[in-house]
Amino acid sequence: MTSTIKELFQTGQPDQSVTVQGWVRTKRELKEFTFLEVNDGSSLANLQVILEPTLPDYENVLKTISTGAAIAVSGNLVPSPGKGQNIELKAAEITLYGDCPADYPLQKKRHSFEFLRTIAHLRGRTNTLGAVMRVRNACATAIHTFFQEKGFIWVHTPIITANDCEGAGELFTVTSLDLKNPANFAEDFFGKRAYLTVSGQLQAEVMAMALSNVYTFGPTFRAENSNTSRHLAEFWMVEPEMAFCDLEGDQDLAEAFLKYIFKFVLENCPEDLQFFNERIDKTVLSTAENIVNSEFGRITYSEAIKLLEKADRQFEFPVEWGVDLQSEHERYLAEELFKKPVIVTNYPRTIKAFYMRLDDNNKTVSAMDILAPKIGEIIGGSQREERLDVLIQRMQEQGMNPDDLWWYLDLRRYGSVPHAGFGLGFERLVQFMTGMTNIRDVIPFPRTPLSADF
Ligand code: 4AD
Ligand code: MG
Repeated sequence: MTSTIKELFQTGQPDQSVTVQGWVRTKRELKEFTFLEVNDGSSLANLQVILEPTLPDYENVLKTISTGAAIAVSGNLVPSPGKGQNIELKAAEITLYGDCPADYPLQKKRHSFEFLRTIAHLRGRTNTLGAVMRVRNACATAIHTFFQEKGFIWVHTPIITANDCEGAGELFTVTSLDLKNPANFAEDFFGKRAYLTVSGQLQAEVMAMALSNVYTFGPTFRAENSNTSRHLAEFWMVEPEMAFCDLEGDQDLAEAFLKYIFKFVLENCPEDLQFFNERIDKTVLSTAENIVNSEFGRITYSEAIKLLEKADRQFEFPVEWGVDLQSEHERYLAEELFKKPVIVTNYPRTIKAFYMRLDDNNKTVSAMDILAPKIGEIIGGSQREERLDVLIQRMQEQGMNPDDLWWYLDLRRYGSVPHAGFGLGFERLVQFMTGMTNIRDVIPFPRTPLSADF
């Protein structure tokens, strides 16, 4: 029977006859026999395979099988004398699917993450990228499980849209026009200018006004030219939206949500998290446990500004009520002051999107950002403006034409209710979980300015 290496480590017994398939990570030739380390991506640990000279065609097998080769091995499991894994495999038969010449870039030595990005088609075969992809998968599973257990409906929002959700200008245009000619978007595929979506929120709000509790989980696109370790041009976002919910309910959901994901990954990927803790960032496990067990900080923007003004340090960007928090401010609050995630609410109306609910003071909106140590903003959300007249006024003050979003305004005319939601940057979550410093290393095929290979 063919098994994954993970299955063998979990349930394999000495003397059991098994077949595994995978790629050779290393080959060590000794006098009496040869060891292969084989990995199939199912687990961090390699399976040790022992080749003895009694193996049919031993000399030839040794010659053709090298690092990177794809093989199947059949044989019997034996107890492992070394520490680490409990079992290893004594080969009785080896099949070579694909050999691997010496120019294979992933020879044994360690490689920088920068170099690995240039071979994104192969880097999944390294320990770190393999672990990242397994943790990423566990995060996605946790997200769906969390919402499904709570009865949220997963809705699928469009990737191509003709509206700019955030009212910001950083969009990719989608066109089928011949770009050699001046673009007349009335003649374009959709009869108007269309874009890749920056967020599924507005459509999620539509669905919440019918189904109450919904969430989206899909790719979003931003053409901002920010070459940072936390920005991608294409990233995945999770956006729950809840009818009959206010800012407090929104914060409660977001906090329970992050706690659930960390607990799930701690339980389901212990080996990978241990690896990140040893090799990437020695606070990975304590951070995860801290998230699960501590209450998040909760402060208003105005309180945050006071704390920042009192800080015993010079910030590069000035701190002043009315100005948006910079990443250095966000990190100071979460990393040094609170030492855990902190939810900042009620930002000035002038720096937040038109759809956020105006507070009674007329100065702030019911926004919330969750700031995480080392990451900064990981979640952004708000209670939404449910009052038609206020919403129209907010659109106008931000230079938007309310007619463009007539359907969104209709929701405020036909059975409007208080509602709230948020967006979690999925890659920032995976960064937070793994301690990986660059966001390009937590998505298989990163899209950033001047980079769309693979
Ligand atoms: O704060 P943002 O822009 O909020 C929204 O898009 C709202 N429509 C969400 C909602 O209320 N439904 O983005 C949400 C999150 C950020 O907190 C951040 O984690 C992530 O998305 N994010 C990015 N992640 C990677 N690369 C980028 N360029 C990102 N921009 C935002
Ligand atoms: Mg934001």
